[in-house]
Amino acid sequence: MSMASLIAQIDGIFRRYLVRLPASAVTRLYSNNRDIFLDSFVESRPAPVQVPETAHQTLWGIEFRTPLFNAAGMFKDGRGYELCARQGAGAWLAGTTTAIPRKGNLRAGAVKPFAPYPLSGAASNWQGLPNPGHTAVAERLASIQRHVDCPIGASLSADPGVETDIARSGLLSGLRAYENAGVDFIEINESCPNTEDGAAGFDHMVERLEFVSKEFVQKRKRHLPLIVKFSTDTDPSRTPELLDVLLRLGFDGVNFGNTSTQYSLHRTAITAPELPLYDYFCSTFGGGVSGRPLKQASLDLVRAAGEYLNSRAGHREFHIIRTGGIETSADVEQSLDAGASLCQWYSGYFEAYSRRGDQVYAQVLKKLKQLTA
Ligand SMILES: Cc1cc2nc3c(=O)[nH]c(=O)nc-3n(C[C@H](O)[C@H](O)[C@H](O)COP(=O)(O)O)c2cc1C
Repeated sequence: MSMASLIAQIDGIFRRYLVRLPASAVTRLYSNNRDIFLDSFVESRPAPVQVPETAHQTLWGIEFRTPLFNAAGMFKDGRGYELCARQGAGAWLAGTTTAIPRKGNLRAGAVKPFAPYPLSGAASNWQGLPNPGHTAVAERLASIQRHVDCPIGASLSADPGVETDIARSGLLSGLRAYENAGVDFIEINESCPNTEDGAAGFDHMVERLEFVSKEFVQKRKRHLPLIVKFSTDTDPSRTPELLDVLLRLGFDGVNFGNTSTQYSLHRTAITAPELPLYDYFCSTFGGGVSGRPLKQASLDLVRAAGEYLNSRAGHREFHIIRTGGIETSADVEQSLDAGASLCQWYSGYFEAYSRRGDQVYAQVLKKLKQLTA
């Protein structure tokens, strides 16, 4: 067993009691020590785990070992490919990165604030997109030794809090850096709630995507699918409008989605012992809620997108990804039924990792009826 897996297992046992301690102390504990765990986690090298071969997917001409892989933010600095490939992940996603490296948020003694709600299968974070920048991560990705069926994706975003022209040219430089680094697909993060820009307006976002389409999508030098990730707070009735924009501009997929800022709505999904921590985090930092509370919203968005795509006959290859509340094989199955081709997980992954260690993918995928039958 790796050190990371051992730490996660021990933490999994004690976390449900620790979160009842004073909220500011718990937040500092889980924020300020998270990097120590993550450093050991990304460098762990488990023995390769077998996952059912029938879970294999070919999408956009790319081989995905399974339809499940990590969501953005887990491997922000581009380390961790070997770990995920050995665990049997369907793919691996690095980032999110920005053009200008970011240290992340600091408030109330908490560095890159994060709080888990293990009894609720949820978490909050207000990390502020910490990352070493597109260039450093692209360089790292370019030197990775690949595994068959475990493609490499890069998540990137425009720099928050800078002038529009600077943000756009930074985004373009990142897209080009990842194209040159040989990644297999790119995800543009249009949905981080934890930065100076917050949730930008719809028209502003469309203008940025139009720019990306004109300057990059239409000029791609090779086959390189581009996905756009939105928030799970997106109104499902707007999915036709969003998909029309993405299809018109030549994008290849959509991801629903990112963390939520609907704090009062999700408060009802937090168990009583975790409410003081939840209330402290939301009032002190805000941030984004992740995990089980997002399950219904991400499914509703995928269903709405799937139905709309089906009604638009003759469009080119375009895939829907579901992120938000994925924990079990039933969640993956429901996602595929609703129209998703792939799923990503973050909170559910770490919860499962604390119980299953490196069998984290195998445990979910062996029960996946749809693909293994
Ligand atoms: C600590 C943390 C950091 C995250 N960082 C990013 C990020 O850098 N980019 C991004 O697109 N999403 C980021 N997310 C959001 C996740 O990718 C995912 O969309 C969200 O957590 C919902 O999935 P889940 O319910 O499986 O956690 C982050 C989430 C967490 C908990």
